[in-house]
Amino acid sequence: MKSLIALIQNDFETACHALFPSVNQEEIPLEITVSTQEKFGHYQFNSAMKLTKILQTNPRKIAEQFVDYLNQKKIPYIEKLEIAGPGFINIYLNPKELSERVNYILHDSKLGVSSNNSHKKIIIDFSSPNTAKEMHVGHLRSTIIGDSLARIFEFLGNDVLRLNHIGDWGTAFGMLIAYMKEEASDVLNGKQDTDLSHLVTWYKKSKEKFDTDPVFKKKSQQEVVALQGGNKDSLRAWEIICTISEKAYQEIYDLLDVHLVTRGESFYNPMLKDIITELEQKNLIVVSYGAKCLYLDGFINREGQPLPLMVQKSDGGFNYDTTDMAAIKHRIFDEKADRLIYVTDAGQSTHFQMIFQAAKKAGFLNDKKVELDHVPFGLVLGSDGKKFKTRSGDTERLKDLLTTAIDKALILVKERNHEMSEEEQSQLAKALGIGAVKYADLSCNRIGDYVFSYDKMLKFEGNTAAFLMYAYVRINGIKKKVNQSVDQLIEQKLPIILEHPSELALAFYLTRFGEVLDSVAKDLLPNRLADYLYGLSEKFNAFFRDCRVEGDLQQNSRLLLCEATARVLKQGLYLLGLQTVEKM
Ligand code: ARG
Repeated sequence: MKSLIALIQNDFETACHALFPSVNQEEIPLEITVSTQEKFGHYQFNSAMKLTKILQTNPRKIAEQFVDYLNQKKIPYIEKLEIAGPGFINIYLNPKELSERVNYILHDSKLGVSSNNSHKKIIIDFSSPNTAKEMHVGHLRSTIIGDSLARIFEFLGNDVLRLNHIGDWGTAFGMLIAYMKEEASDVLNGKQDTDLSHLVTWYKKSKEKFDTDPVFKKKSQQEVVALQGGNKDSLRAWEIICTISEKAYQEIYDLLDVHLVTRGESFYNPMLKDIITELEQKNLIVVSYGAKCLYLDGFINREGQPLPLMVQKSDGGFNYDTTDMAAIKHRIFDEKADRLIYVTDAGQSTHFQMIFQAAKKAGFLNDKKVELDHVPFGLVLGSDGKKFKTRSGDTERLKDLLTTAIDKALILVKERNHEMSEEEQSQLAKALGIGAVKYADLSCNRIGDYVFSYDKMLKFEGNTAAFLMYAYVRINGIKKKVNQSVDQLIEQKLPIILEHPSELALAFYLTRFGEVLDSVAKDLLPNRLADYLYGLSEKFNAFFRDCRVEGDLQQNSRLLLCEATARVLKQGLYLLGLQTVEKM
């Protein structure tokens, strides 16, 4: 079902076209927003003021003409239109429309959401840690945000490919392999198993040795040549290193319930040479100090000099930029994606803006309508306002961070739910702990930094995972208490009666789910969905405070309202990557 805001938008655009044909709506798009206060109706039309400049009439007159026109059309979902202030139009929806829409939510597996943002092939590049290194909190943010966007696009009916662009290639592997040949040859032979923490240590040591020991340096360089030349033993060693790293990442993905396709940088190796040739043929390459570079518009370094995108180093080696050029081409031409989304920290914004412009200059986007988005995010801070670290000053291992959240949740669960079995308690603690970490991240506008605090994220009040999960549990409790099958009521298509202001407010809020998802899909800001779910829980709590359900004359209608809320809440939390529980 088309969202109400989309219908209103349409009707106002039609009215504008009929009343003021001279107005170019592409230049001055009409704006419909949700009213900031209930006394201003449900939605507002704010563009009369903007139109005065072109139409040379006062905004109230313009608003009056819109109202007259739309009143004549007798639009069924509109109850009334009211002019306010200098020329705002407050739009009030018809309660019958709200009631029908809530009923529709109950009969539709998509909860009434149908979107213009559908049937597209969307690639989301997220998480993307680096082999032989620990995943850090930046990768955690990328994983949580990317996964939520993927879930949302899928729910809106798109074909989503989740790519883990692991940093699994580069000259550093030469050092690591050389070092492991000396110190851990059994691991490289596959005779002995190890874990990521050992790799990380060896990696650090190999770097130190590289800088101080010329013989080792030579060996490392030979290893790089062997690896890049496709030497079998070297490749085998490299594969072992990748497998050990991926195993560690997988543990984190399992905890987070995130699924990705691994397609690391190495996947693009065979394409790198051709990319350079193609860029050369298209006259985009300038050689600077032996390196092959692209000079793009608007990029300068700190000294005010043009900042190049270097795609081949002076020693002939390829780098991160080369791989991303190959990857973008592959995703456009081979994967035939309609939209490419990259989720990384804000520090890489310039990199992606350059890659996007280079792709355009190279003609990868000719005759194709591909949307390119970098989704940047800020830092995770500790309570001291500095970059998040452990007490000893090390970078926190993600696995420790997640298990700490679960452990802390378990303490709360044990306090609150003694009657549960241990098994139930630990399941709940996992849902709550992981949910808290994810929600704390997603509920902030990703552009900014946020302060990581276990205590805050595990609170049961305020805009937290626990508050939302609890609202869901509460509805479950109500359903159980009333001795009436909700499914039967749904089947009977019992009309939902909306009389009390809290009932009306809740119903209106429920109808906005699709509108909110559309806005997340457009601006790639999951915090809008978090805000919406928080608002929904608050509206529900107000309804439950004001309107008796069990034993009331309107019991059955109100039960349906409860059920619709539960479904939207559950689906919404799922889209943020959170699990709902039945008891808490
Ligand atoms: N491995 C990179 C990092 O740790 C992120 C890769 C992002 N994706 C990409 N296509 N460049 O920062």
